Amino acid sequence: MSAVVQDLMPFIRPMRADDLSEVIEVEGDAYSHPWSEGIMQDCLRVGYSCWVCELGDRIVGHAVMSVAVGEAHLLNICVGPRWQGRGLGRRLLRRMLRIAGQRNADTMFLEVRAGNDGALWLYESEGFGEIGRRRGYYPAHNGREDAIVYAKALF
Ligand SMILES: CC(C)(COP(=O)(O)OP(=O)(O)OC[C@H]1O[C@@H](n2cnc3c(N)ncnc32)[C@H](O)[C@@H]1OP(=O)(O)O)[C@@H](O)C(=O)NCCC(=O)NCCS
Repeated sequence: MSAVVQDLMPFIRPMRADDLSEVIEVEGDAYSHPWSEGIMQDCLRVGYSCWVCELGDRIVGHAVMSVAVGEAHLLNICVGPRWQGRGLGRRLLRRMLRIAGQRNADTMFLEVRAGNDGALWLYESEGFGEIGRRRGYYPAHNGREDAIVYAKALF
């Protein structure tokens, strides 16, 4: 674990509108097809559960989830490339699972690119199981990529 992460405690808090420029920078660094600032703004506007992970005075990750009628959908979870592999993604995911449970969701669903090995490992190690596949769901550099649909029971 890097000295920086050891010395600084990650702090997960609700996302605010004035976080958006930093969040979008992390998003753009981490994804081949990142969300735009407009999409992230819409998530805040419609009241999705939007969170950031701070390390010291910077935002290093974020997560966006919708929770309704007993279902949580994890729409985005992201850690900036410089901060990956240090346990922050797992910490963010566990927090989202806890929040979803507190809001009476009994299942969490998410979709992940079939080739996103790091994320697949993370989800499976947290007890998610594959429940389906959407063929050619995501745009990719060379055409389209499948989405794997994962679910985890929360109770
Ligand atoms: C997926 C993501 C959120 C994981 O965050 P992270 O901070 O790197 O993850 P952690 O350090 O908490 O690692 C958790 C687990 O993920 C897996 N993992 C993470 N990166 C990995 C990699 N490059 N290769 C293989 N496994 C990896 C490991 O199982 C790891 O478990 P460990 O604790 O036993 O090592 C992060 O890599 C990311 O933001 N990626 C880009 C955006 C993205 O793809 N989001 C998911 C969309 S569905």
